[in-house]
This record gives sequence, C-alpha cells and structure tokens, in this order.
Amino acid sequence: MPRNFSSVGVVGLGAMGAGIAEVFARNGVGVVGVERDSEQLARGRRHLEQSTGRAVARGRMSPDQQSELVGRITFTTSMAELADCGLVVEAVVERLDLKRQIFAELDHLVRADAVLATNTSSLSVTEIAAATTTPARVVGLHFFNPAPVQALCEVIRTILVAPDVVEDVVGLVRRLGKSPVVAGDRAGFIANALLFGYLNRAVSLYEAHHATREDIDAAMQLGCGYPMGPLTLLDLVGLDTAHEILRTMYRQSRNRLHAPSPALGQMVAAGLLGRKTGRGFYTYAAPDSPQVVGDDETPPSADRPARARQVGTVGLIGTGSAAAGIAGALGARDVEVIHVGTGRAEELSRADLVLDAGADDPAAKRAAFEVLDARCPDAILATTGSLVPVVECAAATGRPEDVVGMHFAHGDPDGPLVEVVSTVVTSAMAADTVRSLCARLGKHAVSCGDRAGFLVDALLFPYLNDAVRMLETGYATADDIDTAMTLGCRLPAGPFEVLDSLGNDVALGVQRALYAQNPEPGLAPAPLLGQLVTADRLGRSTGRGFREHGR
Ligand code: 3HC
Repeated sequence: MPRNFSSVGVVGLGAMGAGIAEVFARNGVGVVGVERDSEQLARGRRHLEQSTGRAVARGRMSPDQQSELVGRITFTTSMAELADCGLVVEAVVERLDLKRQIFAELDHLVRADAVLATNTSSLSVTEIAAATTTPARVVGLHFFNPAPVQALCEVIRTILVAPDVVEDVVGLVRRLGKSPVVAGDRAGFIANALLFGYLNRAVSLYEAHHATREDIDAAMQLGCGYPMGPLTLLDLVGLDTAHEILRTMYRQSRNRLHAPSPALGQMVAAGLLGRKTGRGFYTYAAPDSPQVVGDDETPPSADRPARARQVGTVGLIGTGSAAAGIAGALGARDVEVIHVGTGRAEELSRADLVLDAGADDPAAKRAAFEVLDARCPDAILATTGSLVPVVECAAATGRPEDVVGMHFAHGDPDGPLVEVVSTVVTSAMAADTVRSLCARLGKHAVSCGDRAGFLVDALLFPYLNDAVRMLETGYATADDIDTAMTLGCRLPAGPFEVLDSLGNDVALGVQRALYAQNPEPGLAPAPLLGQLVTADRLGRSTGRGFREHGR
C-alpha cells in the first residue's frame, strides 16, 4: 500500500525549510517544523508569515486561510516531536557532518515505515543515507527557491533506496501540485549542475569588470527572458549555499569552470551572503528583504550623456534580414537611414554613424571597415556582428577609438536588448553615441568589453553546451533536463528547446569561438553538438534537431 504521508516533519526552517513547510501546509498536510533554538524558530515563523502574507496582500489567500495554514504547522525545537511523522524532510545548512548526525538521530526516532528525505542541493544523498541503519528509506527531495513558487522537485534515487520509497515520494510530489523528476545521486543533480556553472560564469564576468552587475542581470532577463538575472538569483539563493554547491560540483567534476569564482569566496568570508544578510551583490533594505536599496554601482556613463554625438543620419550596410530589420527599426523611430548593400560605401559619407550588418567573417569585416574609414571619416563606425572581435574591425581603421560594437541580442533587431561593446581603445564618446541611439530605438543597452560572446552568448551557450554534455552521459533525458530548467528556475524554455530554436550550428559556432578565446576543457563544444550539425540536424530550421519538428 502506498504511504499517504498525512503528517510530515521539516528539520531546518531557513528560507528553504520554511518554504517546504508552507508547501505541505498549503496542501492540507500537518507539519512539524523543527529548529535548533527559539531564535531560529521565530525566524522560520517570520519567513512563513511573510510568504503567506504576500499571498494575502495579492488577494490570493484570505487572512482566515492564512491562519489556518500557519496553524497546520507545529513549531518546535524538539526533534522528539517528529516521532509520528510519516516523512521527515531535512533542510539544514549544507554540511555533510551535520546532515549525517541529523539522519542518524532521525533513524532511531521515527517509525519503521517512515521515509527520510534530504533537501540537499549538492551533497551526496548516498553518504547521508549511509549514516542511518536503514538507507533503503532515504531519498533526496530537492525543492527550488522559493519553494512555494517553483513547480519542480527532483527526487534523488540512490543505489540503496527501495523502489517503493521513490514511487511513494514521487506520488506525494504530484499531490503537492509539483512536477517530479527522478535522477541519480550526482553533485548538483540536474538543475543545479546546469544552473550553477552559469551563475559562476556570471560572477567571473563581474569580477573581471566585463560589465556591471545591473548589465549582467539585464542581459539575461531581456536577452533570454529569464525571470531574474544571475547575480540577483545568487543573492536569493544565498552566496554561501552557491559557494558550497560549486565546491561540491568541482570536487566531483574537476571542471575548473565549477571552481567557485574567488569573488564568491571573498563575499562569503565577509558575511555578504545575499538577501538573507541584507547584502550580497546588491544591498537590501533589511535582512530577508527583496527590496534593493542604494545605487552603489552606477552604470558607466549614466552621468555623462553629454558625450554622445548627435546622430541625424545612420548609414547601414548589409543585405540580410537582420539589416532589413534594423533599417525598419530605425525608420520607425524617424531616424534617417541610408541603407546600402555591399560595395557602395561612398553613399554613406554624410552619415553620422555607420552600422555594418554585413557578413560576420574576419576578411569581410576588415575589408568593410577599411573602406568605411576612408569614405566616412567623420562617422562613428559600428559592427553588429558577434563572431569577429570588434577590435579586429577597429584595427582595420586608422581611428580605432571611433569603432564600437552594437550587437542586437541573438541578431534580432526586434528584441529588447542591445549589447554595446567597447574594445580597449573605444572612446567613451563612440560608446555613448551608440547607447543614445539605442535609447532612441527604445532598446535597453548593456555595456560590456570585447570578449567572445559579449554578455548574453558568453553566459547562455556554455550552459546549453553543458546540457548537451549531460545528455551525452545518459544521466538524464532531454525532456527531464528541459523540465528541470523550466520548472525549477522558471526559465522560458529548456536548453534543448532553445538549441533547436537557435540552431545547433549557431551554438556550435559560438561555443567554438568561446573555446578558442578561453581553451578551458569545460568550454570545448560537446561532441554530440558537432555530430548533430554534421548530420544536418540543426533544429527547427531543418525540421530535426534534438527533437523532430517537421518543416
Ligand atoms: N515565497 C512565496 N511566494 C513567493 C515568493 C516567496 N519567497 N516570492 C515570490 N512569490 C510569489 C508571489 O507571491 C507571486 O505569486 P502570485 O503570482 O500568485 O501573486 C509570484 O511568486 C511572483 O512573484 P513576484 O511578482 O513578487 O515577483 P516575480 O514575478 O519577479 O517572481 C520569483 C519572483 C518567483 C522569485 C521569480 O523571479 C523566479 O522564479 N526567479 C527564478 C528563481 C530560481 O531560479 N530559483 C531556483 C534557484 S536554484 C535553487 O533553488 C536550488 C537550491 O538547491 C539552491
């Protein structure tokens, strides 16, 4: 008979534990919530009241329902009160010794048929299970932050667990209205293994002053439709948790890209743990508050708009659909455009800014910029390409300071985001002029240095590549990976859906460029990506990619 789990225990009522307790209580399940002392218990209760209070404020719950929900939870500092629970979920800090100690204690405390679950993000569930005399009843039950909102639960199956325990927990997850994905016991499981490499790269870009924290975050929100930027998300998850997850992933994978970025370690050492302490990458109104305060990191040149040159006429080179789209976008904002194909640069001589949206290969770019330099001596020269470094275009001219990148994210002139790329010699005036043109177009401009992938591609494609590698190992299916990323992190699409839509050939090209600039083994294109491209399985464009689409 399947277990019905009418009463559950939650050990640890931090942000995750309190969220997990709320999920159970919302579904009518009685909860015993345990914390180590009365102060932590009060904090746990506060988390719950804040979270359910938000639902009340939005009219999604009545005050009566709120008190009924909170009334289903018994707050206690005594583990002994867990004795009658059919399931206990542990959600304390990510310390293996502590978790093993709690499981050893629970093992003797709860009924013989009770299930023990850990919400660990990255530690080995098997090692935790081995601290008990009954590892067959121990599973991983991994929720995502905020637990009441994210629809995914990863159910982690160790080699020791009994199949009926996994089945019963999967059934419970469904009854909670969440989607279970069952996975084996590996550091980071599915979602964190893909998410935290990406978050770590964002910290590295920030640490290298490639862009401001606001621009890094805006790039992923506007460029990929993510609900939060990576640095904001790290503040939500907790920098100590993120650091620990990355350390564990690195220990297992030995992939240097998983080694926590030094900035992360320093912030943890300084007690800047994110929202929970009131300061991480951003500063918050108070500990646990989502409200960002202060503008201690002014985006570059926000205070110097006067440096932008007036742009009356834009010259545009290119015959493709992107060039046509850019011409349309400029025209729609009443910007005069002189649009030429290739080879008629003399017509561009009166343009204030020339945008080269022509072929994105080094020889073509060099030739175009040599000609533009001669024919348009007073214009700012911009490239919309992403595969040729902007500095190569600049080096083809006698005035590299006037050359800048203006990259429409995903090459889509209708999208909301433009990356304004400065080389080591681009003048502030040139970059400001492009930013001001973006503002006229109603686009959000983010500024970054001239590194392969700029911002969006540098963060997106290695994550997609990691997903392909995960698929190659057979650890999870494409469906499970897509489900984990969309439901665990509320991403608008899973990695395989994204790859099929952007094109495996595009992904391979970007990944090769990233790897060429930074030959880290972890950045090498996944072999499967190359094989799919060779087999003309490019995605939607050819009707077949990771999935069948039909033309
Ligand atoms: N508790 C309860 N409910 C919450 C909440 C919280 N802490 N935060 C937000 N919500 C609810 C709101 O009440 C609202 O509900 P409603 O639509 O029914 O009114 C809904 O979520 C949307 O909230 P907001 O409008 O306030 O804000 P946003 O639309 O900006 O959403 C967000 C906030 C839900 C946090 C969203 O930005 C998001 O999903 N971000 C991605 C988070 C993510 O990636 N999580 C996974 C991290 S990895 C992890 O947890 C694994 C672990 O091992 C570390």
